[in-house]
Amino acid sequence: MDIIILGIESSCDDTSASVIRNGYVASNRVANQDVHKKYGGVVPELASRAHQKNIIPVVDVALAEAGVKPEDVSAVAYTRGPGLMGSLLVGTSFAKGFSIARKIPLIDVNHLHAHILSVFLQAEGENKPMPPFPFLCLLVSGGHTQILVIKSHLESEIIGQTIDDAAGEAFDKCAKVLGLPYPGGPLIDKFAPAGNPDKFVFSKPRIAGLNYSFSGLKTSFLYFLRDELNKNSSFIDENTPDLCASIQKTIIDILIEKLVLASQQTGIRHVAIAGGVSANSGLRRAIIDTGTQQKWQAYIPEFKYSTDNAAMIAITGYYKFKQGVFANLHDAPFARNKA
Ligand code: KG4
Ligand code: ZN
Repeated sequence: MDIIILGIESSCDDTSASVIRNGYVASNRVANQDVHKKYGGVVPELASRAHQKNIIPVVDVALAEAGVKPEDVSAVAYTRGPGLMGSLLVGTSFAKGFSIARKIPLIDVNHLHAHILSVFLQAEGENKPMPPFPFLCLLVSGGHTQILVIKSHLESEIIGQTIDDAAGEAFDKCAKVLGLPYPGGPLIDKFAPAGNPDKFVFSKPRIAGLNYSFSGLKTSFLYFLRDELNKNSSFIDENTPDLCASIQKTIIDILIEKLVLASQQTGIRHVAIAGGVSANSGLRRAIIDTGTQQKWQAYIPEFKYSTDNAAMIAITGYYKFKQGVFANLHDAPFARNKA
């Protein structure tokens, strides 16, 4: 019998639904919320209202595209956290209602766990190389930056993480001081190819072991721009591509340096990246180039599965379903991961 998982993701500002059939993506629909652009960041109250409006149509389209009727679904998986509480509640309530109505298992999914498993996403008939266990994963999103050893579909160990800002925050905050709208990471990526990555040099943090720090970089970027703007008020306009290329290179160098160290320390030579920042074209290239130098095998999720999506929730649900790991109706969403 087919195993059909309906996945729901609503942790931040994207409402998404996906169907995974027997471990393959049958559909993945994402409704983005443009309403936040003019505020320079996600407004939680507006996000939850937009989720409420989008959730049913997005699920309907995802089911239709997969050719699946509600009664065919084996289990419903949803993002329990971390994320914005009001946003999480919309997906959680929908999933619980669906599970009660259809009398099918409910599966709670940790958003970060799901990002990691996005490297396993493919449509039926594709033959993507999949990482063997254990593999290393650099998880880089808007709120988290971690290096993990992935031991199985359901087990992992964090061996390094940021002590302050996440890499995505570094991209977004640097973009903001350049006057770029939120989220700035993709815009830095867009301007960087036309710039010289060695034009401006920013100092890198000295943090022991496998941990990261990005708050100093953001501050030094801010002070650098302030000094240059005092000399020339058009400095940013005249140098946008070079500034984007240089800051992007600095962030990538910081990320890759610790990943190389993690591979050397653990002896693991299968290395994946995941999370929104893994959509960055410079980072995608760097992980492959470093892999060639270091004799790694690199694994990168498809671009559409790098940023928030429900396919990663559904595939995590699929692996949990196969192991009989289910949720309870009284499980509440959580905004932050437990330390
Ligand atoms: O994983 P994600 O979609 O949401 C969270 O779980 O946080 O990650 C969002 C982050 C944002 O900081 C965004 O600027 C960054 O990923 N991002 C990028 C790119 N696409 C998304 N950063 C750099 N280059 C990109 N192409
Ligand atoms: Zn995410």
